[in-house]
Amino acid sequence: MRSPEDRYVFRVEGISKSFGAFHALNDVSLEVSAGEIRAIIGPNGAGKTTFINIVSGVFGPTRGRVWLDGEDVTGRPAQHRARRGLARTFQITSLFPGMTVAEHMHLASRGMDADGTRRSALLHLTGLEALADREVNTLSHGDQRILEIAMALATDPKVLLLDEPTAGMSIAETDRMIGLIQDRLRRQVCAVIIEHDMNVVNQTADQVTVLAAGAVAASGIPGDVLRDPFVKELYLGSAAGH
Ligand SMILES: Nc1ncnc2c1ncn2[C@@H]1O[C@H](COP(=O)(O)OP(=O)(O)O)[C@@H](O)[C@H]1O
Ligand SMILES: [Mg+2]
Repeated sequence: MRSPEDRYVFRVEGISKSFGAFHALNDVSLEVSAGEIRAIIGPNGAGKTTFINIVSGVFGPTRGRVWLDGEDVTGRPAQHRARRGLARTFQITSLFPGMTVAEHMHLASRGMDADGTRRSALLHLTGLEALADREVNTLSHGDQRILEIAMALATDPKVLLLDEPTAGMSIAETDRMIGLIQDRLRRQVCAVIIEHDMNVVNQTADQVTVLAAGAVAASGIPGDVLRDPFVKELYLGSAAGH
């Protein structure tokens, strides 16, 4: 069934999520167009990772709906959403020590239509080509996080969800991540990026949504949202807590 949602690659409407008596998300709506990069910012505990978990199908919402490429996927499992073009990375690095970069890329593209040529191209694209035979535990933190993105891209996604891709990175590693997002992801996929570093948000995002206490507190272009006194206050309050 086609609907007005079709012009958005990805859209959620009225998402709420309770864990027992605790309301982690409350009536969150958001839509992302093809080629758009959307940042989601907000204090720790705001519900950002919960949002990604609901969109990727780790668990269902208490209320609300999720559409992917015009299809209501609310009740569908994570594997179905992956087949429909959704890929994600995790807030915590999730690689297998002892396995090589190339082996991870094989694992990531298993069952998908990604041949060896495509995997090599992705390693080249992400600057990991020379590290293909290295065991992942011997890589720098930055290379590990970039490998996770290369693995997500191995499924040729329409929508990519990145949960704090620059967390724990050095300034040089963060700059490399900004370059990857700007040069390689921009206009190729639609991406939702949870990010604490305002410099990264400014340099990569088309639109920013601010989550606070499980609700959308502000939304707009980075220049406007990051200048908003309410957002500054919210954000400085949280940054002090890190
Ligand atoms: N599986 C869960 N069970 C219970 N509470 C959870 C669960 N996942 C997240 N929470 C709670 O929901 C709130 C939002 O968490 P999270 O989405 O991880 O925030 P953020 O990513 O914005 O820091 C937190 O208070 C967290 O403790
Ligand atoms: Mg989180």
